[in-house]
Amino acid sequence: MNEEIVLSTAEMVRSKLSGEGSGHDWFHIERVWRNAVKIGKAEKADLFVVQLAALLHDLADDKIVASEAEGVSEINYWLEGEGVPSNVIEHVLTIIQTMSFKGGNNHLYGSLEAKVVQDADRLDAIGAIGIARTFTYAGSVGSPIFDPQYTVREEMTKKEYREEKSSAIHHFYEKLLKLKDLMNTETAIQMAEERHQFMEIYLEQFFKEYADEEG
Ligand code: ADP
Ligand code: NI
Repeated sequence: MNEEIVLSTAEMVRSKLSGEGSGHDWFHIERVWRNAVKIGKAEKADLFVVQLAALLHDLADDKIVASEAEGVSEINYWLEGEGVPSNVIEHVLTIIQTMSFKGGNNHLYGSLEAKVVQDADRLDAIGAIGIARTFTYAGSVGSPIFDPQYTVREEMTKKEYREEKSSAIHHFYEKLLKLKDLMNTETAIQMAEERHQFMEIYLEQFFKEYADEEG
């Protein structure tokens, strides 16, 4: 029963996000779903809540829908239609609304399931996949690969994070390199280690080439 709801939700999300070009495509959702199950099992979380939140987490993002409120009410409508109990719907919606990074200005709901899904989403923002997504996103909003005239912003509002000009390489310092220490669960902390190291090696090589100091 719950498994059927998970699978029909996956199908709905897949058809909605196919063709999305900013790095929020179905394959991102599929990876987050898979990692959320892996982490959720290890941490003994409620896998029904974890899977629904992982699958639906980007459908309320203001980068994808007109407004977060509209996205939330669509998700609510979908889950009610699937016969999901109201306490589960409420939990899933709370997770989705509190898990996004938004320049470091959001506060995650404290449940184990919220922690698991946020960790799975964050793992997909780092490592080789995170690097690929960062450049894809930067390209989709017209940001350059690297522009030394920008400074790395330490503190920023959600609006500044979204709207001010920056470069893909700056995004590593403003977000990606911070994520390792922001992981919630022991399982994700361990999974993040290798991905984090790979980004450091990548940046080292990037700046070596940039400064023309190879060999
Ligand atoms: P957020 O919670 O910060 O909105 P998302 O998960 O929605 O992050 O972002 C989608 C992907 O795009 C992530 O891999 C993220 O690191 C990347 N991204 C977000 N903002 C930028 C940016 N200004 N420049 C480059 N990549 C970005
Ligand atoms: Ni996501």
